[in-house]
Amino acid sequence: MKSQHVCVVGSGYVGLVTGTCLAEIGHHVICIDNDPAKYEALKNGRIPIYEPGLDRLVKKNVARKRLSFGQWISEGLKEASIVFIAVGTPPQPDGSADLTYIESVSREIAEHMKAYTVVVEKSTVPVETGEQIEHTITRYKRKDVPFDMVSNPEFLREGTAIEDFLHPDRIVLGVKSKRAEKIMRDLYAPLKAKRILVTDLKSAEIIKHASNSFLATKISFINSVSRICELVGADATQVAEGMGLDPRIGASFLHPGIGFGGFCFPKDLEAFHYISKKLGYDFDLLAVVKEVNEGQRIHFVKKIEKALWVLKGKTIAVLGVAFKPHTDDVRFAPALDIIDRLQSQGARVQIFDPIALEKAAPHLKNVTVCENAYDAVKGADCLALLTEWPEFKRLNYKRIKNLMTTPLIMDGRNCLDPAQMKKLGFDYQGMGRS
Ligand code: UDX
Ligand code: UDX
Repeated sequence: MKSQHVCVVGSGYVGLVTGTCLAEIGHHVICIDNDPAKYEALKNGRIPIYEPGLDRLVKKNVARKRLSFGQWISEGLKEASIVFIAVGTPPQPDGSADLTYIESVSREIAEHMKAYTVVVEKSTVPVETGEQIEHTITRYKRKDVPFDMVSNPEFLREGTAIEDFLHPDRIVLGVKSKRAEKIMRDLYAPLKAKRILVTDLKSAEIIKHASNSFLATKISFINSVSRICELVGADATQVAEGMGLDPRIGASFLHPGIGFGGFCFPKDLEAFHYISKKLGYDFDLLAVVKEVNEGQRIHFVKKIEKALWVLKGKTIAVLGVAFKPHTDDVRFAPALDIIDRLQSQGARVQIFDPIALEKAAPHLKNVTVCENAYDAVKGADCLALLTEWPEFKRLNYKRIKNLMTTPLIMDGRNCLDPAQMKKLGFDYQGMGRS
């Protein structure tokens, strides 16, 4: 295998994992980040995010001299012939993706490109962004060097991002030239990917938005089903199992609960809806998916209110604030919204999360932050389980029952066994199971 020189711009959840894994499979990678605090941390061997296994892989590849860090794109492009754009594309109030970082990075790449370069769009972007990047680079490039644009969407789930990178279901390459396709195929060759799908640029961009929107739709679908189950006393987890046995439906992403969060599904759904309208088609199914998702949080709080009658003055123990387990990410986490709603009705909140408390701290006003789950449930009128961390399943619930004022468990992720909880004397309520 020929080792390639790669520059990754943006060293966040996606960029840092991508850069580190490319180094792991034998390439020479420089990860750039213009946030001085992030750059300092990385240079000094500290990883600014929690992603299982990443710390070890970064250290290993820095020691092998395959992975380094920089603050400026000019440093990154000294040797690299492939540059990945992995800066954020945050949502704007109207739902559209903010592409200002993508635009400024494109201009900088244009300024510092020295020879033929493959420019890879890794960040999730609306369709036709690749073409805009291409025009921008053409307009601003200093030297008359050729380049090729590629769209190579990421399918990395936080918490299992390294595994997803090293053992992908598929690699999508949206290309405009055979030369770029060959370079990208060579880059990923060590992964021996099950399937490399080569498409045009725009189709690759749509594959990403459509995949995340479809998965979000599956979640909102099962959550709607779970509401019907609650009304008639059926069990949504059994319904999901029965549906999932049909290979055309599939069992994954059919877990009912308080809904999806994170930095991908909510913003990609909105951005896909926004761009569809802008292009002349209102993909309004996506608006309903969002509405159902938000409705689950409201419903969850209503369930607590129904059980406790009055929320004012009650103490709610919240277990889990991360948008899903095995990450410290709280961006668009359903838990933050639920905490706000509980507080606005006068409830007191005591919280514990094994990893995400530091990242959550700026969002937690008047919340008692606890060192462990047992401290969080002390004197609580309700235990609200909002992230399915495996350790929460292994807690001593007998002890928890004794610590609480009233033994009410509202399991927002259906991660506990209802029969076992009832046997212990809890008033247990899951999502979609009575
Ligand atoms: C990524 C993708 O970029 C986004 O489009 C996708 O939909 C979700 O995942 P993520 O890695 O989660 O975003 O974001 P973040 O952790 O914020 O990382 C982006 C990094 O880019 C930050 O560290 C930021 O400092 C850096 N950045 C931003 C630059 O280096 N230069 C810029 O001009 C802007
Ligand atoms: C997602 C995509 O899965 C991944 O391919 C990439 O595009 C980045 O975005 P991520 O946001 O890390 O990954 O997490 P994911 O595992 O997809 O979960 C997203 C949210 O959906 C979480 O809040 C999770 O709790 C929720 N979820 C997931 C459900 O509520 N029910 C389910 O059945 C599955």
